[in-house]
Amino acid sequence: MPTRIRNVLLASVCVICAVVVWVAYDHSVAADCAAGAHLTSATGGKDLADAHMEQWKRTNPQRVKDWVAEEKERHAIMPPADNSHLLKGEQGESHSYGRFTERDILIWAREAEKMVVEGSRIFHDGDALGSTVAVSCDMCHPDGSNTHPETYPKFQTQLGRVVLLRDMINWCIENPVRGKRFEPDDAKMRALEAYIYAQRKGTPLEYGKH
Ligand code: HEC
Repeated sequence: MPTRIRNVLLASVCVICAVVVWVAYDHSVAADCAAGAHLTSATGGKDLADAHMEQWKRTNPQRVKDWVAEEKERHAIMPPADNSHLLKGEQGESHSYGRFTERDILIWAREAEKMVVEGSRIFHDGDALGSTVAVSCDMCHPDGSNTHPETYPKFQTQLGRVVLLRDMINWCIENPVRGKRFEPDDAKMRALEAYIYAQRKGTPLEYGKH
């Protein structure tokens, strides 16, 4: 093949490749980056991350879902304790609580509630519980009723020993729910415990009670 024709052919292949790459490239990424470039002067990594997150939320509204708010709309969930009294009064720098700010108190409440809300999500979701018969806890314990976390530890006859709340959760996972028990430290077990305790807010502890 004459060299000129070969060169022309090679050049066309290159042009076609370039066009294919250009068409296939996700230009929204570059647009996001370019739009975010002016933010690099923002002070501190957190501000920058927050600004990028806000930008991403604006450009991807359909992908933003506040799962905590959604779960709270679906199910009544007890709020965590209000610790705002720690900000009043005489607490100064010398007092251990005096060093905390409104922001700290907000973070404690939000984080505690998030774990409880995650527990609610699992409690109401047979798949998350690993149920082989599509059963979730709320079918027998609507809103966490009849779980009596305040009565643990107690002697459970069906297990023949003194058990903790997590043992009864596992008993229900294995029996009515027909799933595989969770390890005590499994994030799902921790969230379920958090939710069940939270729903009994205000109930006095009375271990051993039947
Ligand atoms: C099909 C109905 C059913 C489902 C579904 C079910 N449970 Fe139960 N649960 C029971 C029954 C019945 C008991 C009482 C057992 C007993 O004390 O003899 C019980 C007891 C409990 C207790 C102890 C209550 C007490 O008074 O001490 C806890 C905690 C509990 N369940 C949590 C759960 C959790 C968490 C789930 C989901 C993983 C769940 N249950 C799913 C029927 C169910």
